[in-house]
Amino acid sequence: MVIGNRIILLLLLLAETAVAQNSSGGTQEVHVGVILDLGSLVGKIAITSITLALEDFYAEHQNYSTKLLLHIRDSKNDDVQAASQALDLLENYNVETIIGPEKSSQAIFISDLGAKSHVPIVSFTATSPTLSPRNLPYFVRATLNDSAQVSCIASTIMAYGWRMVVPIYEDTEYGRGFIPYLIDVLQEVNVQVPYRSVIPLSVTSEQITQELYKLMTMQTRVYIVHMSSALASTLFIKAKELGMMEKGYAWIITDGVTNLIDSLHPSVVESMNCALGVHFYVPVSTELNNFTTRWNVRYQIDNPTDPPLKLSIFGLWSYDTIWAIAQAAEKVGRANVTFRKPISKQKPTDLEALETFSHGSELLKEILQAKFIGLSGRFDLSDRQLAVSTFQIINIIGRGWREIGFWTAQNGLSRKLNQSQSATKKSSLLPDLNPVIWPGESIEIPRGFEVPASGKKLRVGVRSSGYQQFIKVEKDQITGATKATGLSVDVFEEALKRLPYAVPYEYVLFGSPEDTSSRSYDDFVYQVYLKEYDIVIGDITIRYNRTFYTDFTVPYTESGIALVVPVRDSVNKNTWIFLKPLTPGMWLGSIVFFIYTGVVVLSLEFLGNNENVRGPISKQLGIMIFFALFEKIVAEEIVERFLSRIVMIVWLCFLLVLTSSYTANLTSMLTVQQLQPTVNDIQELLKGGENVGYHRGSYIKGLLEELGFDRSRIKPYDTPDDFHNALSSGSSNDGIAALVHEVPYIKLFLANHCEGYTMVGPIYKAAGFGYALAKGNPLLSDISKAILNVTGGDAMIQIEKKWMGYQNDCKNVGPITGSSSLTFDNFRGLFILTGAASTSSLLIALIIHTYKKQHKSTTVTQADNQQVQRNRTNEENNVPPEGNQGAVIEEHDNLRGDTEENSPLKEHNGSEQVSDSNTRTSTDVCDGSSVIHTGEPSTVQAESI
Ligand SMILES: *[C@@H]1O[C@H](CO)[C@@H](O)[C@H](O)[C@H]1NC(C)=O
Ligand SMILES: *[C@@H]1O[C@H](CO)[C@@H](O)[C@H](O)[C@H]1NC(C)=O
Ligand SMILES: *[C@@H]1O[C@H](CO)[C@@H](O)[C@H](O)[C@H]1NC(C)=O
Ligand SMILES: *[C@@H]1O[C@H](CO)[C@@H](O)[C@H](O)[C@H]1NC(C)=O
Repeated sequence: MVIGNRIILLLLLLAETAVAQNSSGGTQEVHVGVILDLGSLVGKIAITSITLALEDFYAEHQNYSTKLLLHIRDSKNDDVQAASQALDLLENYNVETIIGPEKSSQAIFISDLGAKSHVPIVSFTATSPTLSPRNLPYFVRATLNDSAQVSCIASTIMAYGWRMVVPIYEDTEYGRGFIPYLIDVLQEVNVQVPYRSVIPLSVTSEQITQELYKLMTMQTRVYIVHMSSALASTLFIKAKELGMMEKGYAWIITDGVTNLIDSLHPSVVESMNCALGVHFYVPVSTELNNFTTRWNVRYQIDNPTDPPLKLSIFGLWSYDTIWAIAQAAEKVGRANVTFRKPISKQKPTDLEALETFSHGSELLKEILQAKFIGLSGRFDLSDRQLAVSTFQIINIIGRGWREIGFWTAQNGLSRKLNQSQSATKKSSLLPDLNPVIWPGESIEIPRGFEVPASGKKLRVGVRSSGYQQFIKVEKDQITGATKATGLSVDVFEEALKRLPYAVPYEYVLFGSPEDTSSRSYDDFVYQVYLKEYDIVIGDITIRYNRTFYTDFTVPYTESGIALVVPVRDSVNKNTWIFLKPLTPGMWLGSIVFFIYTGVVVLSLEFLGNNENVRGPISKQLGIMIFFALFEKIVAEEIVERFLSRIVMIVWLCFLLVLTSSYTANLTSMLTVQQLQPTVNDIQELLKGGENVGYHRGSYIKGLLEELGFDRSRIKPYDTPDDFHNALSSGSSNDGIAALVHEVPYIKLFLANHCEGYTMVGPIYKAAGFGYALAKGNPLLSDISKAILNVTGGDAMIQIEKKWMGYQNDCKNVGPITGSSSLTFDNFRGLFILTGAASTSSLLIALIIHTYKKQHKSTTVTQADNQQVQRNRTNEENNVPPEGNQGAVIEEHDNLRGDTEENSPLKEHNGSEQVSDSNTRTSTDVCDGSSVIHTGEPSTVQAESI
């Protein structure tokens, strides 16, 4: 190392003298300081590149009037050293630009000096984002700041589905500056950082071992390493020793180390075997290849005693930086360059005494405007830092690495660069990246966490419930082990079995096995927050105010809060029960239709000249009822008309259905119990000032108090039998009128106390029972998924059968729906039918009747005419007219007003009036039957019906 440094110093002197010699030949010197840790890998690589860069630049631009004269200083990895070197360069050498320093911590002070003296400070290694060009106007970053890669790291973490990571970083400006940006971006994608491991620079390998042991006891298995290569080497070698480079672990190395991966010692690279890394992507070019060859040769010349080293991106950035500065210096020129001396200069170390470079801002502007394609790719400092480029994600394998994919700000992760966006979008859940070989030579993507942390078992908090079907806890007398049984336990164990990985667990008792209620469930759940347990299981209701300190899995039971109330028979079987089968509306409807049908039949019979229906009103009424009820007799004996028969048949159908429905309903009312809850909702209880019960220790108490129940009216009970006793004694006898409880318990209670109780409600929604885990526990989503898988399948039915099923043949679980009275609506169809039949028959009968009458008169008129003719002949034969001629005329007159068609006949008749006396004789023989023979045949039939 000492020899190496001497050689470098010698080289520097040579460079300085060479430039100085050549300055006489028309070109002017531009003094440029270079501050690097010459002992570091980056320093060594950069110095060789810088020398080559100067040579290449002035070989290409021989006619330039300016020439950079480098003053190379070694900061010896020390902030104070770097600062004093910078002061020296500024005060005594009048440097116009400083390249470096290497470390972010060094850069803070030096860029302040630069700002004061108007000297641009161009660093290609100080990556801490705390160095902001906003506060440091003369600071230029010829590299990316560390926050540029955080999105790339976050995308990678997302791609592999990790939910927790632990950053391990060095306790320097470089390390600390990066962390807030990393955590910000991880928070955005909901990745937790449960712990940060800070490694001081002065750490011993003992301490690193200690820290790594600590990390091993934690759940997280994904680490982000952000530190200098020297520290990283120690860390990884120790991690390998401790077995942290084995299956289950994942390591991501930031670009600080990965950018140097080719230059690191193979044994160091080997210790990082199977880690992922993120580094700056350099496109391959022939220039780069040529340069690499030349660089290798030159490096060997510069460092003859060192083993060969590979060029890294820092060498390329330093090369490009020299080109940018040399170009800028030429553009600014040498005209009128002065270092204006401040007026007072008392002490040589007085910072006030710094001279201000007159062309500083101009030079800075030119450096920022330099845009060209350099060896590192596009070199553009206009943002005061390199424009963000592409990151390459690599997988370190053995002594080398292979490419996993790329990340760009526009396209995110992709397997290939310039892959079209649609191609990356359509990819499935798996990341579109080349396969990775994970630590332990595994190809399985690490889960990212271990549950529980290595060597420990998952501590499952359990407590006995008042309902042992849900959970019952026992202590083994001999071994003292805690045993739990019940539905909650079975679902939990079944869910754990379905996790894609094995989770060893042990039950830890809360309270004592017999104690079912003394400490509340809130308290029980709170133990998770206190880290007493990793998870608590049992009949734990998912409640809003419990989610403040724990997370819940999805529920595994039904949900809701309901009332249990005694039932009583709602139908009193008294004198008037025979009225109950039909509603009053139905009774009324039936009576109205009964009367209507009777009236219709009566009318039909009346129209049909039924002898039976003529008579006093009391007789008619009797017949009407008789008709309506006894169709058969009517049909045979009294009713002769077709229409009334139809009406009667429809009515009979109606009666048949009605009577059988009535009978059935009445039977069921008399035999089946009509159970009704004594209380229908909670307001009723509240208004009545009744006592209500709840399960001791449950949150229902608070709920009831919120509802406005008096404290003295809320009574706690422990077991289903207590509830039963309290409910059966009733509110007035120091018992309760209702029990407020959660639906899963109520079902259980009703299964055991089938007789005499029912459930009313649910009155409130509740989320059901779930398991509580500490906030952010990575198991949560997996267990929830597993619970959904259990509850959605046959397994849940089996478990329910096992714990609840055997008593579940109770009928009155759930709301009661007794047989109710028959309503008018139930029979609407029949009413319409019979109504329509009666009404239409009546209408038809009326029409026929009208038509018939009209025809009768027409027939009579025709008969008149015939008789008139006959009379005429009789007159001639002197036969005297006889009979009921007057009656016929009379009838004829009655019909006159009815039809218009009669009018010609009227005139005719008028003329016939004269011969009245003549016609009388012939009608003597012309009785009703003789007239019929001359009439129409249809009339004959109508008459005979
Ligand atoms: C100085 O100039 C001479 C020729 O004038 C040239 O050979 C040599 O390479 C130059 N040195 C540097 C450092 O540019
Ligand atoms: C760091 O880089 C990012 C992305 O290139 C940029 O947005 C941010 O402003 C930079 N921060 C500082 C302090 O330079
Ligand atoms: C949650 O709310 C209930 C009432 O609704 C109350 O009794 C209980 O104490 C609350 N728990 C906490 C932890 O606030
Ligand atoms: C449970 O998971 C298995 C395996 O993934 C799956 O085949 C099954 O359909 C799931 N059952 C339910 C109810 O989701």
